[in-house]
Amino acid sequence: ARIAVMASGRGSNLEALLKAFPHDNPLGHIVLVISDKREALALQKAVEAQVEAEYVPWPKSRDQGVAYKTGREQFERVAGQLLHEHRIDLILLAGFMRLLSPAFVQAWQGRILNIHPSLLPQFPGLNAQRQALEAGVSESGCTVHFVDAGMDTGPIILQRRVPVLPGDTEETLAARILEQEHLAYPEAVRRVLQGRV
Ligand code: GRF
Repeated sequence: ARIAVMASGRGSNLEALLKAFPHDNPLGHIVLVISDKREALALQKAVEAQVEAEYVPWPKSRDQGVAYKTGREQFERVAGQLLHEHRIDLILLAGFMRLLSPAFVQAWQGRILNIHPSLLPQFPGLNAQRQALEAGVSESGCTVHFVDAGMDTGPIILQRRVPVLPGDTEETLAARILEQEHLAYPEAVRRVLQGRV
């Protein structure tokens, strides 16, 4: 399978995925990385791994609602072209901080995955680790799921759990969860590619 990753930031999940799905993995390999942020470390990591790295802007203007839609249309048009050219089978969102349109998600139904740093359906959206601390839960973790038109909704593929410890800050909890993300995402992708989901 030919895999694309979309990432907006640091790209540590991308790194774990690049390790698990290099060019000689017969199950699947990453051939394309797309970012909506020119400065994303994820793009550098792709270049280092000799994988095609593309910055695709998500332009914004002042008028919020309309601008979001216009920016998204432009992003999806360009990204869609790249995905097509590279004959992509599977899209992995890895710290991609944008919501794709219902039409885009529909067109790729069952072929887009996302990772989220909580045990969904708990704490969707931004700052999931902070939400977990504020809720006072004793356990959190990460979730890999298929993407549907909602935010951090869609069928769950797998979860990994971690304890929330006394004295945890957002940073310590995030780090504990992130370690599990790096195991969970490759495992979930393997399951999907092997048809075990
Ligand atoms: C991860 O915590 C991921 O679950 C969330 O954004 C973060 C991305 O980190 N969606 P990285 O860019 O993969 O290091």
